[in-house]
Amino acid sequence: MKRVVIGNWKMNLNLAEAHILAEAVRLFAPDYKGLTIGITPSFVWLVPLKESMRYMPANFFLAAQTVSSYEKGAYTGEVSAHQLKHVVTYCLVGHSEQRRFHHLTAADINAQIKELIAVSITPVVCFGEMSQSKQDHLLPSVTTELANDLHNVKSEEIEKCLFAYEPLWAIGTGNPATPTYVESVGQHIKTWFREEKGVHDVALLYGGSVTDDNVAELGAIKTIDGLLVGGASLHAKEFEQICARFSNHV
Ligand code: PGA
Repeated sequence: MKRVVIGNWKMNLNLAEAHILAEAVRLFAPDYKGLTIGITPSFVWLVPLKESMRYMPANFFLAAQTVSSYEKGAYTGEVSAHQLKHVVTYCLVGHSEQRRFHHLTAADINAQIKELIAVSITPVVCFGEMSQSKQDHLLPSVTTELANDLHNVKSEEIEKCLFAYEPLWAIGTGNPATPTYVESVGQHIKTWFREEKGVHDVALLYGGSVTDDNVAELGAIKTIDGLLVGGASLHAKEFEQICARFSNHV
């Protein structure tokens, strides 16, 4: 399975900064052929960035940070999967900041996944447990959240998605989950997909305070196929270093 590193830019960067960073990533991406590398600019920068890139390396993609749960119509402020389809190839779904600030329900996330699949955009379904105290216990009940998000999504559709395990307590805190913890949760999630959904090789990313200091350890984890990187993806050199170190484990 090809490994994936996605930079989650969140609500950062003006247009000039976005151009500089996108260009840097576009240029270094071909050096890491074993990886597929993506960036997620804000909606408003997606089209100008896409238009400025005459050549897109095969292992580089633009992604959106969210999508509407609805197909079209009177939904002020929303952007539909149909509108995104010629602009991005991947889209985050259910990032914890979206779930939290927009009070998204499992039904919303489920509808977003289906909208994206209908237009052949790859959903990157984000999920993870709230509380750090669970780090000391056996395994978090992350699969309950997944089961709700994936209600009635067919196995062949699940195979088209990526999944980003992001423990909420690790996002933006400088306190990533330990490799041992990520490995065991990863195993738990992959077993769940096999046994409950009949999906054998689901692509599982880890996100939460990934930096160039901890990426080597995370890259060595067998159950992890990729990374979702927030803060550290806003700096071209650090993001490239993360890609370089992660690709050493391909
Ligand atoms: P972080 O963010 O790397 O800054 O912790 C990750 C994310 O929110 O996807």
